[in-house]
This record gives sequence, C-alpha cells and structure tokens, in this order.
Amino acid sequence: MKKVYFDSAATTQLRSEVIRCISEVLKTEYGNPSSTHAYGRSAKSLLENARKEIAKHLNVTAAEIIFTSGGTEADNLIINSCVRDCGVTRIISSKIEHHAVLYAINEMKEKHNITVDYVQLDECGQVDYEHLAQLLSNTTHKTLVSLMHVNNEVGNVLDIKKTAQLCEKYGALFHSDTVQSVGHYEVDFAEVPVHFAAVAAHKFHGPKGAGFAFVRKNTGLKPLIFGGAQERGLRAGTEAVYAIAGMAEALKISYQNLEKERAYITDLKNYFKEQLTTEIPGVKFNGSCDDNDRSTYTLLNVCLPIPSEKAMMLLFQLDLHGIACSKGSACQSGSSKGSHVLTEILSEEDMKKPSIRFSFSSFNTKEEVDYVVGVLKTFIDG
Ligand SMILES: Cc1ncc(COP(=O)(O)O)c(C=O)c1O
Repeated sequence: MKKVYFDSAATTQLRSEVIRCISEVLKTEYGNPSSTHAYGRSAKSLLENARKEIAKHLNVTAAEIIFTSGGTEADNLIINSCVRDCGVTRIISSKIEHHAVLYAINEMKEKHNITVDYVQLDECGQVDYEHLAQLLSNTTHKTLVSLMHVNNEVGNVLDIKKTAQLCEKYGALFHSDTVQSVGHYEVDFAEVPVHFAAVAAHKFHGPKGAGFAFVRKNTGLKPLIFGGAQERGLRAGTEAVYAIAGMAEALKISYQNLEKERAYITDLKNYFKEQLTTEIPGVKFNGSCDDNDRSTYTLLNVCLPIPSEKAMMLLFQLDLHGIACSKGSACQSGSSKGSHVLTEILSEEDMKKPSIRFSFSSFNTKEEVDYVVGVLKTFIDG
C-alpha cells in the first residue's frame, strides 16, 4: 500500500545524518557527562559542543540553553518557575496555545491564585496587538506574556519581534513556545528580546525526548526537577547525550538547508492549496493558511465540505489509504473533544464540518499531494 506522511507537525522523520550521529554516540560515548574520568569528560565535551552549536543558531550564549526532555517540559519549567520563583502574579496568553502552556497556566492559577488574561484574536486567530498593549499597560502585577511563535494546529505565525518589543516597553517577561518554529524559521534572540522559549528536537527531524528551554541570563528561574547539579542546577538528571547530540546535528542541518527546504515546502503547500481549490469546491483553509506571510509554510489546516454523518469516516478512510494526517493536533487524537483552537476561531457552521491538518517536510512530494487530493475527492464524491 502507498504510504504518505503528512503529519510533520506531530513529529518528523529523522534525517539519515541524525541517525548516524545518534548511533555513533550510543556506540562510543557511553560515559556519564558528570563523571570526571576520560569517558565522562568526552561525553561532557560532546554535550557542551551540542549546546554551543544550538546557541549559535539562536544567537544566544551556550549558558542560556537548558536541555530538557522536550517542549512540554520546557514550557512547564518556564511557566511554573516564573510564578513560583520570579514573582509573576499575572499571565497574559491566548486560548489557542498548546496544552503544555494552557494547562501549565491553569495549574498556576489554581495553585497560586494568579490573574490570567487572554488576548483577543481576530477572525483568523491572529493576536490583536492593540488589545495586548492595552492589557500590558493596565496593570500593577508582575506579568508574564506567553504566546506561541507558530501555532501547531492552524499554523498562524506571531509577530514575535513586535510582541517582544511590546513586552519590553511595559516591563513584562515574555515566553514564546517556539516548538513549531525553531528549525523552520530563523530565530535571532539577540534581535528579539524574548526571555524564555521552548523547543523540541522531534519537530525538526531530530529525536523524540530531547528539547531545551532558552532561559535568558539573570531571569532567576529555579528547577522543576530536583537532584543532581546538571544543567547548571536548573534541570537535574543525567543528560541523554545521544539525543542531545542528535538534536544539535538536526538543528545544524535544518539551518544549513533552510532556504532550499523552505522554498521547496512552500511550493508544495501552494500546490496543495491549488489542487484542493480546483478539485474540491467549497474547501476552506483555516487560520491564516490563505496568507503565506502570516502562516507557516509547513502546515495547511483544511475545512472540508463534508456533512457531519460522513465526516466521522474521513480520518479512517485516509488511514485506510495509507495517509497520515491529523484532526486537530496529535496530542488530541485520543480525545473525544474537538480542537480548542478551531473552537476559538471557526464559525458554528464550519465547526460542524471536518477539519484536517496536513503538515509537511522536504521528504514530501507533489505526487503525494495528487494522491491525497484524489483520495479526498473520491471520498467526497462517493
Ligand atoms: C506548539 C507545541 N508546543 C509544545 C509541544 C510539546 O512538545 P513535546 O512533544 O516535545 O513535549 C508541541 C508538540 O506537539 C507543540 O506543537
């Protein structure tokens, strides 16, 4: 059976270079980086080189990169510690953040009784910057703003620089979940004054279970996990050296190929949109998917003109034809609830129709697009 993987926003295929790098480290670098003997020193050196490599791509210092198990842990570390240790008593966020952020904020609200405000979104789900400025100007609380760079469900891109500058103007801390943007966009944190960011390796052809928090110097963050003195005391536990080395390798290759792969994937996304528009009258693109400047090139969220009785069978039919894609995001696929993101931005009418997220990488082809559009058309017409 033909197999098509259009779910790279859930996770990506590892690059062969990354597999080679990880295998090599697993074979030869089994020392504990905290050990002082030669095996340990060698593993430590690998770890620190990975940290330097990663820091270089974000234009930050290596000391500001704290390795974690992935995006969720980094988001939780930042949000928890901002409230618990940095005196934050108010958080401004949006209702379309990833659950790693939304639920961490809810927890802070319950445990620490902080104030939470959600910024207004326009009809495409883009942040209303005037409202954000209004919220920021109107407070005596120490405030953390948490807004994601690229939305994992609809692909909306935040103007991260403008947001960071607004936060700076009003003296707020700024955390951005950059899980869907690092490795796909240039992020220069010397240019963009964010205080914190969360990153996951498996979104840019790296391994699962590795990620990092960018924590700007002197922000006063404290650990979530207690134990050894790893990660400058901010994240105890023996580092997964092979996964971290694989993450650094994956990030290096992603940035080496950024221009070429961005052009290739953008072309693929545009082609997908054209084919869907031609073959499936009434199709709509959710979020800002119609506007390439405000929507990531890696993702297309599609609202299909299918009656709800038939919609139940759609993902099943796609799966039967070897097509991997998502309804909402991967972390909700086991949930019976609809997408919290689409609930915020779609009309009641469109919420009754099925929406599917297709997300891409440079491993995809136009031939795969043709195949998927053909399967969709047959299902809709049938
Ligand atoms: C925007 C966003 N934030 C956070 C996460 C969680 O990252 P991880 O799976 O590495 O914990 C994801 C993963 O789907 C994501 O897309």
